[in-house]
Amino acid sequence: MSTATSRTAEQTDTAKLSIGDTVLELPVITGTENESALDISKLRAKTGVITLDEGFVNTGSTTSAITFLNGEEGILRYRGYPIETIAQNCDFIEMSYLLLYGELPTASELRTFREGIRQHTMIHEEMKSFYNGFPRDAHPMAILSSVVGALSTFYQDSLDPNDPEQVTISIYRLLAKLPTIAAYSYKKSIGQPFMYPRNDLDYTSNFLHLMFATPAGPYEIDPDFAEALNLLLIVHADHEQNCSTSTVRMVGSSDANLFACISAGISALWGPLHGGANEACVNMLQQIADDGGDVDKYVNMAKDKTNGFRLMGFGHRVYKNYDPRALIIKKACDKLLAKLQLDDPLFEVAQKLEEVALRDPYFVERKLYPNVDFYSGVIYRALGIPVQMFTVLFAIGRLPGWLAHWVEMHNSPSKRIGRPRQIYVGPTEREWTPIESRS
Ligand code: ACO
Repeated sequence: MSTATSRTAEQTDTAKLSIGDTVLELPVITGTENESALDISKLRAKTGVITLDEGFVNTGSTTSAITFLNGEEGILRYRGYPIETIAQNCDFIEMSYLLLYGELPTASELRTFREGIRQHTMIHEEMKSFYNGFPRDAHPMAILSSVVGALSTFYQDSLDPNDPEQVTISIYRLLAKLPTIAAYSYKKSIGQPFMYPRNDLDYTSNFLHLMFATPAGPYEIDPDFAEALNLLLIVHADHEQNCSTSTVRMVGSSDANLFACISAGISALWGPLHGGANEACVNMLQQIADDGGDVDKYVNMAKDKTNGFRLMGFGHRVYKNYDPRALIIKKACDKLLAKLQLDDPLFEVAQKLEEVALRDPYFVERKLYPNVDFYSGVIYRALGIPVQMFTVLFAIGRLPGWLAHWVEMHNSPSKRIGRPRQIYVGPTEREWTPIESRS
């Protein structure tokens, strides 16, 4: 698979670093949006020193032409197109094409892409027996990562990361099957039969069918539900080098097969500080509502450093401004709740919480704004999606981003296995103590 040719970052300056008597010249490289970085790749070879940056707060792991985000100004663009424009103009599959190939598809390219995906929506019949082995209350993210990993046992014909045809078919399989695998984890949890996918439906309508239809009667898909879901998937699709995407790249750097890499990405996404925050956020809103809706009490708890409580859905490593995705989702939330004439107490709590927090100096000084997860849970609830499935929906949305990064990494001439270094702080060499002499 080829992607749009991207411009490489250029050297625009030189920085001088002195360590003891050594003065080293470090190239300053600049990307297309004028972001600059010091290229320290020769630092250790020339000085014996490495950089230390826990949590990679200040470390660029790669150059990338997929997503631009400016956290200070609240800008997010996929392949140069603002997220707001994409959300308004295309569906999830067209956006996936854009992320993967770097350009908007022609009508015929898009048709071929859609068809390629549609052919693979079913999972192997034998795969369904896996679901019998999971406890009924298993978390769907655990099921998702296990079953996606297991795709590599069923599709041994498409595991070679260096064969473009095998990669393309694996991409189709993943995009097509993830909604099916995800919906079956929900069906399993409620004891309903698995539905076969409907290839006559668009991507999100098919997912609603897989989730909510039963063989016992007709299920009418609400186009507004499909549209809201489409929007949610689009805003979650990529966010440059976040935890799960970096995981997919890291695992992929060892030439592990694509299914294994995506399974790892799903596991990384599951954590409550990442994709799991949407579930944690709605649980928090529920807790506040059940506790009488006293948002000040919870804002104070979040500010109290002796209390481990944090406002879920608030704050972001990169955004130090309103997350543009949260704005899009909040508007969609308003529209959907009005259409359904739903008075969701959690939406009210969320709005009050946002209002109080955004006025509070603690949040203002630290530039803590609502992130993508703050309102997404409220929409998912309105769509009838159970809380445990929220992060699963995030995974379906993030999949094209993971795939695009994996492909970009494999196409990069400078690809190397990811292998960070460390500064050792354990004991220096010591004498062995025989067991009878240990106290
Ligand atoms: N509630 C209260 N205080 C917060 C919050 C919060 N949600 N987020 C950050 N802070 C405070 C921290 O305590 C810290 O205060 P200090 O300077 O007095 O020590 C300061 O703000 C900076 O926070 P860090 O944890 O250093 O920021 P970091 O970039 O490491 O973490 C993170 C970002 C993990 C998103 C954090 O803001 C958080 O835990 N938020 C809640 C969980 C959440 O919503 N995660 C979803 C992120 S979006 C996504 O993954 C899709």
